[in-house]
Amino acid sequence: MRTLRDIPALREALGEYRRRGQRIGLVPTMGNLHAGHLSLVESARRHADVVVATIFVNPLQFGAGEDLDAYPRTLADDQAKLEAAGCDLLFAPSDATLYPHGLQGLAQVSVPVVSEGLCGGSRPGHFDGVATVVAILFNLVQPDVACFGEKDYQQLAVIRKLVTDLHFPIEIVGVPIVRAEDGLALSSRNGYLDARERATAAELQRTLIALREALEAGAPIEATLETGLARLRVAGFEPDYLELRSNDLAAVNATTREAVLLVAARLGKTRLIDNLTLTLPH
Ligand code: PAF
Repeated sequence: MRTLRDIPALREALGEYRRRGQRIGLVPTMGNLHAGHLSLVESARRHADVVVATIFVNPLQFGAGEDLDAYPRTLADDQAKLEAAGCDLLFAPSDATLYPHGLQGLAQVSVPVVSEGLCGGSRPGHFDGVATVVAILFNLVQPDVACFGEKDYQQLAVIRKLVTDLHFPIEIVGVPIVRAEDGLALSSRNGYLDARERATAAELQRTLIALREALEAGAPIEATLETGLARLRVAGFEPDYLELRSNDLAAVNATTREAVLLVAARLGKTRLIDNLTLTLPH
C-alpha cells in the first residue's frame, strides 16, 4: 500500500488506475482505525477494483470546545491495518494541503434540513464541515463508489443528499455498524472511556433494543422514549437526544413503518452515538 501526502501524487496514482479501467472505491476516515473502519475497506473491495482510504482529522467539523486536539492520531498503526485489510492507497493530507488558503472565507457545502436536529442540533456547523470535506475528497479522488458507516446515520443521510443534489456520479454504500461483544458500537471515541464507563457504555445499545421491542409491540412513542431517557440517566449517561424518526430522518407520522431510533449521550467527557432500525406496527 502506498501512502501519499499531496494532491499531484494522488492524481498521478489515480490516473494509472483509471487508464487501466479500474473501478475506484473510497473510504474516507479520520484515522485511529478499528474493525468498523476495516469493514468499510472490505465493503469497498467488494464494490471496486482498487481501494483508496483517506485519513484526515477535519478541523472544519469540530466545534469550539470539542475534541479536535485530543482526537487520537495513530498513523503508523492505521497504515498497518489498512495494508492488512487490502487497501491499495492511503491519502493522508495535512491541513495545509486540503485547505491551502485556510478556513477563513472557505467555500463550504451545506445540506440543510437533513443536517438539522439530532447531532446537527447539538453540534452546530458539524455537518457543513463534513459535507465540505467529503465534497473536496470526492472531487480529488473521483471515486466510483464510496463507503460510509451506518453508525453515523445522520452523516450518511447528509452524504446521500449531497451526492444526489450536487450530481456527484458516485455510488454511496452504507455499511452496518460493527459492535464489540457486549454490543457497544465501535468508535474511536470509545478509547476515551475509563474501565467503569466502558462497562456502562453497553447499556446504550441494550436500551435501544428494549425500546425497539416495546415500539414494535405497539407501545406509545413518547412515553417509551421517556422510559428510555430515564433508563439512560439511571445508568449514568447524560442524554443529548433520544428520538424516533422515519428511516429517511423525517418526523414519524401515522403512516410511518420503517423507522430508526437515534441516540447521543455523554458518559463522563465522552459523547457516544448509536442507532437501531425497527418496523412500527400497523
Ligand atoms: O465519519 C468520519 O470519520 C468523518 O466524518 C468523515 C466522513 C471521514 C469526514 O471527515
